[in-house]
Amino acid sequence: MASGGANTSLPERRVADDQPSIEVINHPSPTPYKARLAQLLDPGFGSVFTDHMVSISWSEGLGWHDAILGPRTSLSLDPATAALHYGQSIFEGMKAFRQKDGGAALFRPFDNARRFNSSADRLAMPGLPETLFVEAVRKLVERDRDWFPDAPAGALYIRPFMFASEPFLGVRPARAYTFLVIASPVGSYFSSRSSAISLWVSENHTRAAPGGTGAAKCCGNYAASLLPQRNAIERGYDQVVFLDAVENRWIEELGGMNLFFAFKDGSVITPPLSGTILPGITRDTVITLLRDQGLHVQEQRYSMEQWADDAATGLLTETFACGTAASITAVGKVASSNRTFTIGDGKPGPVSSILRQLVTSVQFGVSPDRHGWLVPV
Ligand code: PLP
Ligand code: COI
Repeated sequence: MASGGANTSLPERRVADDQPSIEVINHPSPTPYKARLAQLLDPGFGSVFTDHMVSISWSEGLGWHDAILGPRTSLSLDPATAALHYGQSIFEGMKAFRQKDGGAALFRPFDNARRFNSSADRLAMPGLPETLFVEAVRKLVERDRDWFPDAPAGALYIRPFMFASEPFLGVRPARAYTFLVIASPVGSYFSSRSSAISLWVSENHTRAAPGGTGAAKCCGNYAASLLPQRNAIERGYDQVVFLDAVENRWIEELGGMNLFFAFKDGSVITPPLSGTILPGITRDTVITLLRDQGLHVQEQRYSMEQWADDAATGLLTETFACGTAASITAVGKVASSNRTFTIGDGKPGPVSSILRQLVTSVQFGVSPDRHGWLVPV
């Protein structure tokens, strides 16, 4: 199990890259049936957790070892644990969906595994074999398969993460890491009353600069987004839009979602992967599905002024955000210090509504999985 530093007390069992083997220790007292059902009724997002977790340790010289699927438990950390001081910590967000036939499937888990390793690389952390990453997630979902919520669009949200677990205060990459996977039954990410969200444009704070960590899913990016996000909420908006750090002009993304813009002529734009935004897996899914429908999708820069002007003239008909947690969510209203504008009639438009339907029907196994995105559990 996770400990403050290199794991010295347990026998160390190395994990082979090609044949991941994860020891299973069942929870001695899993959540009773009725208590579980009560928690699954209206789980919201991110506050209900399943009974188990996966834990795998890494230490210099030994590599990955002690892979265990066991009871979900608190961690005991040395106060000098490096991640707590220097933020050497990354994560992924992915979902498992109940299938029409009663089984379960992961959506594009190898893409999460690849992105996880690219985040690890940026933060000077060890990579995890993709097969081990996916096997850890698969095993957890299989073990906690009774935790799928029945709510429409409900899913099992999976959070694989890794942090520097060496107790050391010098500033250098740590020599020990802990990889954990936890799962959370979820409903909709937004508890918002309306079906389209509102956005506040952050003019004083940026999320990522060229050469920085914007394309990595590392904890510091989210910490940096919290103040502007709080400012947006205080003004009555749901989410914050970040602009580029150089010209403070080009639209990048939200704190936890990518953005798309749909136009009257049928074309669609999304900001390019220039290194400062997260390469969203939902973003890639949306681009692929739109192109499948014959629509013209361009990955190109789109400015704040143009966005406001196009919304005013009606050239722009829709804006929507997308991500694993948020799925596809329409944007109804946008405001900055000097401009407020409505997108279309302020309600979800046909492009985002059809896309949401297309994406979720593949995820739930209702439509054919033409791109091989589902991995059965
Ligand atoms: N952008 C940021 C900053 C995110 O945190 C997320 C969520 O993971 C996304 C975009 C969307 O990525 P994905 O579709 O892979 O969930
Ligand atoms: C996700 O969509 O999985 C994320 O990590 C974003 C976060 C806002 C929950």
